[in-house]
Amino acid sequence: MFNWDNPLAPPAPRAPDVTPELAIVNTTAPVAVEPTSTAHQDSTKQSAVRREERSNNQRTTFSPVAAKPVNVEDKRVVNGLADINQLAPFKYPWAWEYFLNANKNHWTPLDVNMTQDLNDFQHKLTLEERHVYENVLSYLTTSDILAMRNIGLAVMEKMTAPELQIYQARQVYEEAMHTWTYQHCIETMGLDQGEIYNRYRVVPEINHKIQMCNDRLNSVLRSDIDLTNRDELENFVMSYTFFSGVFEGTWFYNGFSPIFALQRRGLMKGTSEQLQYIMRDEVMHASFGIRVCNQIIIEEKLKLDPKAIQNMWEEAEAAEAQYAHYLLPDPILGYNATDHIAQFRFIANRRASKLNHATPFPGAQNALPWLDEQANLKKEKNFFETRVTEYQTGGALNWD
Ligand SMILES: [Fe+2]
Ligand SMILES: [Fe+2]
Repeated sequence: MFNWDNPLAPPAPRAPDVTPELAIVNTTAPVAVEPTSTAHQDSTKQSAVRREERSNNQRTTFSPVAAKPVNVEDKRVVNGLADINQLAPFKYPWAWEYFLNANKNHWTPLDVNMTQDLNDFQHKLTLEERHVYENVLSYLTTSDILAMRNIGLAVMEKMTAPELQIYQARQVYEEAMHTWTYQHCIETMGLDQGEIYNRYRVVPEINHKIQMCNDRLNSVLRSDIDLTNRDELENFVMSYTFFSGVFEGTWFYNGFSPIFALQRRGLMKGTSEQLQYIMRDEVMHASFGIRVCNQIIIEEKLKLDPKAIQNMWEEAEAAEAQYAHYLLPDPILGYNATDHIAQFRFIANRRASKLNHATPFPGAQNALPWLDEQANLKKEKNFFETRVTEYQTGGALNWD
């Protein structure tokens, strides 16, 4: 029998039937909550009224009789006025589609056979390749926790349409799953967890990238944030742009490629398969975040500073270049720092174009033409000797 007090405990023996106790009746009547007073000093009366209305709508204290049906026109990505607890009518049906699609990509790290990876790691990888493998894991594991905290704690609460939050809730779960994957790889290879997890603090080239994310996250992870303030709104959109366009769309995407280079040579195939699953999720996260940012810009008639955008891309490139030189002081067979950095620029241009940014790195070339194909799970599945069951996919990936 399921143990409700301790679900992880072994099943308890079934208790003998007893006379049922009187049912506990919840007699608590819905409590009317006064609308929050407008304590903030708003720059305009209109924004104060809007925020108060929004605040009221997001509290579940309306009377069922008095509640008006949700008007789809009142829905907005942020600063909306519609009841956040009512899913339909959809204003953003594409967000619901993302959620449905995300649910086709389900796996757990335990589904992938890692036996050969352990043998490869111990007997086949060179010292340089082990350095790459360990540091990719070390960087990714901290990154995915940041990604989870960003979406779950800083972004979701600011959304005012539930269909957006529902996909983001799935994203939070997926980021947790990714962290589990890295932990599973670290455990399987018998790596020193204390050392691997601490590496982002002591290796400046990893730390710098993590710190850039932390700075963005901390700037929007505040309870007093008010998105009717234009500066705050711009900062929030820049942060979400950074997380979806740079962090997930470019750093993550590029971050897996050194391991895929090993996979091309028949090495670390289990880890690579796990990363292919993660990459599929990350492409969705990046694409969704970019779409949300674009939608906010339209709805709020926001103009981002082109200089700030170009700086964001250039800082991201500088950080990635430092990281690449640390990861690959010398080339490994089929992969080197120069190609890694060139590929960053190429992918960055792709993401920037979806964000309607000016091309940050004109002339960048596709340095790893094999990457998209290598990362495409459906094709690769035929080569794997790991799990033979068909992996449910939403079709071949469209990387953009
Ligand atoms: Fe992730
Ligand atoms: Fe992600």
